[in-house]
Amino acid sequence: MEKREELYRGKAKSVYKTDDADRLILLFRNDTSAFDGKRIEQLDRKGMVNNKFNAFIMQKLEAAGIPTQFDKLLADNEVLVKKLDMIPVECVVRNYAAGSLVKRLGVEEGLKLNPYTFELFLKDDAKGDPFINESHVVAFGWGTAEQLARMKELSLKVNDVLSKLFDDAGLLLVDFKLEFGVFSDGSIVLGDEFSPDGCRLWDKDTKKKMDKDRFRQGLGDVIEAYEEVAHRLGVPL
Ligand code: TMP
Repeated sequence: MEKREELYRGKAKSVYKTDDADRLILLFRNDTSAFDGKRIEQLDRKGMVNNKFNAFIMQKLEAAGIPTQFDKLLADNEVLVKKLDMIPVECVVRNYAAGSLVKRLGVEEGLKLNPYTFELFLKDDAKGDPFINESHVVAFGWGTAEQLARMKELSLKVNDVLSKLFDDAGLLLVDFKLEFGVFSDGSIVLGDEFSPDGCRLWDKDTKKKMDKDRFRQGLGDVIEAYEEVAHRLGVPL
């Protein structure tokens, strides 16, 4: 597999073409961003930890029947993935109240949501990733009603699989964000990444935050917490 030119540079990852029209290479950088890119810092080992964490989770999801972009790990910071046409919509599943839900509704952080909630945000940093609903996705042509239904179905399946996986490691999966894309065969496939950058994980007993909220809130030991989560799950680093 030959790495060709850079196609796109995101806040934390860079995307490269390859000699295969159906495959891309993702490079996980150490850049750590918060508040829609208004704050960016370099954190040692982050690219490597998130790349390996993501590979581990994506393989668990594939094994559970969820189609993912993951193909194979190429290096500490690089992974080969299926090329997708990304849908610019972030799917957020919440099991406990935190983050923007707490701000928006004034509910207590940690409130158990029964059942879970499913929310959509437009992926647009310049607009601050605004909260949207299903009719906006269809009306503006970001996705069809059928694609959206599949994204929701897969998001809830991911929640079932990962809530159990993290629970077995002594962690609460508080919430998480997924992004999907369309593969060359027209199917909806899970893309982007799953790592402590895009979810909230709390220690079940102490409620210690083990995710990117440590960076957003200046709590320190960000990568140490990611590594502890990886260790508890058995992710080889
Ligand atoms: P929120 O509470 O800020 O809406 O975020 C919900 C979850 O989704 C949280 O785990 C962080 C993740 N998320 C991202 O990773 N990137 C984003 O751009 C957004 C809006 C949320």
